[in-house]
Amino acid sequence: MFEPVDIPRDAKPILTVSGLMKKFGSLQALGGVSFDVRRGEVLGLVGPNGSGKTTCINVMTGLYRPDGGTIDYAGRSVGGMPSHKLVHLGINRSFQIPKPFKSMTVRQNIETAAQYGGNPRGRSGVRPLMEFLELDGAAERSASELTSAQQKMLDVARALATDPKVLCVDELGAGLNPAELAHVASLLRQLARAGIALLVVEHLMDFVDQVTDRLVVLSAGKNIFSGSLSQAARDPQVVEVFLGAPDER
Ligand SMILES: Nc1ncnc2c1ncn2[C@@H]1O[C@H](COP(=O)(O)OP(=O)(O)OP(=O)(O)O)[C@@H](O)[C@H]1O
Ligand SMILES: [Mg+2]
Repeated sequence: MFEPVDIPRDAKPILTVSGLMKKFGSLQALGGVSFDVRRGEVLGLVGPNGSGKTTCINVMTGLYRPDGGTIDYAGRSVGGMPSHKLVHLGINRSFQIPKPFKSMTVRQNIETAAQYGGNPRGRSGVRPLMEFLELDGAAERSASELTSAQQKMLDVARALATDPKVLCVDELGAGLNPAELAHVASLLRQLARAGIALLVVEHLMDFVDQVTDRLVVLSAGKNIFSGSLSQAARDPQVVEVFLGAPDER
């Protein structure tokens, strides 16, 4: 499961987001967000609280319709498609606050996701997935009994059970201890080596540094930077967004 694959260096992006817009009433949560991600790449999406990171994932995964802009996935336009269609096409996500079916066991949660996602491996893939995410010891426990770290892993397992080509993870690192963080970082890298394109939303910069190949920085619903973390740390606009203007520090 999740063996490394060869990805041509000149492969086109599997997902391209361009000028994405989303309003909630008078609030412009996304004011023209653009980026792309390739198979095998881990793209970090960072920015202050309320900058639009989760909204971006919510729009990309069909929870909300965009008000403008385009989302191209594997050669087709998918902006505005509902979640279940996007899951079947290969775009899925984990949630900032995990949303397992709490009355179901871990195994049932993952089986349900595999069926929903139409994964051809179906139930046969559920056990290896639980082992991969170290949930096998809790397979028959109800999801409500899990620790918050395990609930996050269950959320990832449910997404992976649908066999995504693009996986968005929203603040997976929050609340994890350093050993758990290092473990999750290595799992995400393994998924990327297996050819999945990952969009990682995160506040923890050490984790971002360990996991991502490239960063996009959002501020007030706009992307203000794209490049490496070390370049971001030297970019005056990025520094201002995270630390405030020089006279405010
Ligand atoms: N369903 C919604 N209805 C109304 N406003 C919303 C909704 N979802 C998000 N917002 C608003 O949109 C803006 C962007 O929110 P979003 O959750 O995308 O930010 P974020 O970057 O994920 O923040 P955080 O780092 O705190 O998770 C915020 O002002 C938020 O209050
Ligand atoms: Mg968020």
